[in-house]
Amino acid sequence: MLRTSLTDLLGRTVPVIGAPMAGVAGAELAAAITAGGGVGMVGIEPGASPQSASEHLAAAGPGCGAGLLAWSLDHDDRALFDAVVASRPALVSVSYGDWVPWLERLHAEGLLAATATGTLVAAREAADAGVDVLVVRGGEGGGHGRNEVATLPLLQEVLDTVDHPCVVAAGGVATGRGLAAVLAAGAAGAWVGTAFLASPEASTTDAARDAVLAAASTDTVYSRVYDVASAAGWPSEFGGRSLRNRFTDRWTDHERHGTRRHQGHRRRLLRRRDHSHLRGASHRSTPGPPPRSRHHNRPGYPSPGTAHALV
Ligand SMILES: Cc1cc2nc3c(=O)[nH]c(=O)nc-3n(C[C@H](O)[C@H](O)[C@H](O)COP(=O)(O)O)c2cc1C
Repeated sequence: MLRTSLTDLLGRTVPVIGAPMAGVAGAELAAAITAGGGVGMVGIEPGASPQSASEHLAAAGPGCGAGLLAWSLDHDDRALFDAVVASRPALVSVSYGDWVPWLERLHAEGLLAATATGTLVAAREAADAGVDVLVVRGGEGGGHGRNEVATLPLLQEVLDTVDHPCVVAAGGVATGRGLAAVLAAGAAGAWVGTAFLASPEASTTDAARDAVLAAASTDTVYSRVYDVASAAGWPSEFGGRSLRNRFTDRWTDHERHGTRRHQGHRRRLLRRRDHSHLRGASHRSTPGPPPRSRHHNRPGYPSPGTAHALV
């Protein structure tokens, strides 16, 4: 048992939270992490039905948490949020977008709330708003988030300057050594995503699992290409870290020109500049949406699974 303010708050024995990963962290993974003494979070997909959220959380069982994406929640139609609340998760994260109103509603319902922050300013805002678990997430983290500060620098500045009893580190924590490092720095625990992608309980496809296991630590890229190509709806300040592949190599840094909607405009611009070599590239380069696999069929979430399918 490793006792910290996180384990005290949640009544657990291990200071590890299994990150909510929509489409990958379902009931089975969340239940396994919770059975191991941490808190497994079920990632609720954008556009999920209230019924499917209830079913996933019921299957995960008591002690598990739920992760919602703030930008995908509808302030006028609270059915999904209400379904999550009715399942009484041990912890609910609402991240990326306008999360403050949801935090207030969670507290009104007597639930514990977390949010992921990627800058010192955002961490201060979350602490001031009264979040119970302050997730400090560096740019090396998998999936969506900010890419401005790495985990350790951000964790150090937050711990030094933000007064909060339960700061949890996210991004690049994948082993006991990583957990020991963030605990030694003063974090109350770790919020771990990528390391669980290869576990048998994750809803990862076989191809994605193989790709994750085969990948080197230099094989990821931070980009908005999947979100732009699929018009997923993510706010533009958040990109995603995924495995590199031909698609990301070709389209990263071209996000503003990456959708079909922008192709005509781009062609006109290029014609005007009379760059014949670029004109050829623009003609060839209309991207289709990334292929969708069984477990990555929500719109545009960059993930190793999707990335692998494109290799
Ligand atoms: C495949 C994948 C899907 C993710 N989906 C979500 C999500 O639905 N909601 C969320 O708040 N964070 C999501 N994240 C981000 C994680 O919550 C967490 O911040 C990140 O995994 C931590 O970094 P690590 O992957 O290096 O452990 C996702 C991450 C990955 C790798």
